[in-house]
Amino acid sequence: MTLRLGDTAPNFQIDTTAGKIDFHEWIGDSWCFFFSHPADFTPVCTTEMGRTAQLAKEFADRNVKPLGLSTDTVEEHNKWIEDVNDTQNTTLEFPIVADADKKISELYEMIHPGESDTAAVRSVYIIDPNKKIRLMMTYPMSLGRNFDEILRAIDGLQTADKHGIATPADWTPGDQVIIPPTVSNEEAQKKFPQGFDEIRSYLRYTKV
Ligand code: BEZ
Repeated sequence: MTLRLGDTAPNFQIDTTAGKIDFHEWIGDSWCFFFSHPADFTPVCTTEMGRTAQLAKEFADRNVKPLGLSTDTVEEHNKWIEDVNDTQNTTLEFPIVADADKKISELYEMIHPGESDTAAVRSVYIIDPNKKIRLMMTYPMSLGRNFDEILRAIDGLQTADKHGIATPADWTPGDQVIIPPTVSNEEAQKKFPQGFDEIRSYLRYTKV
């Protein structure tokens, strides 16, 4: 099965460091940042797990629940979390999926044999409260993810949903946004009473 944007995220039941979960039930009315790691006790992963723990308030402020995954057991994860907390000066509280038999990594296409037959690559799935996959990113083993970009992408998706806009290159919260071409000027005047700049008929900026 190939996963695409807009698909319902496949549901699963699995053991995690916070006990057994049903993925969809666990997401509930939140968003989810579901991200995979090659293995416990590896250096890049340790920094990524630590960064996610340090950003707990940033995720909570956006109503996003982080869920990690690596292809090891709960016991190994729990030992690794002690190291993450110790080396990254944090307290990791989000659950990590124990995917020792790789069922979930295969379901979510996190195993890329060109990188490794046995370990998951660095996949990111941003899933919305309707359980739709809204964003996917795939990083190789050697490259740690950019968490500013992950938070920026979540902000962009949530701002787009709230205001019916799109966001330009390198947008960050507070910057101008784009009125989609499907919205006529007449509709735009009603929808954005604050006004808009028409650079071209297809390129209109406003503030939200
Ligand atoms: C790491 O997470 O540090 C890592 C994992 C596999 C290969 C290289 C680095």
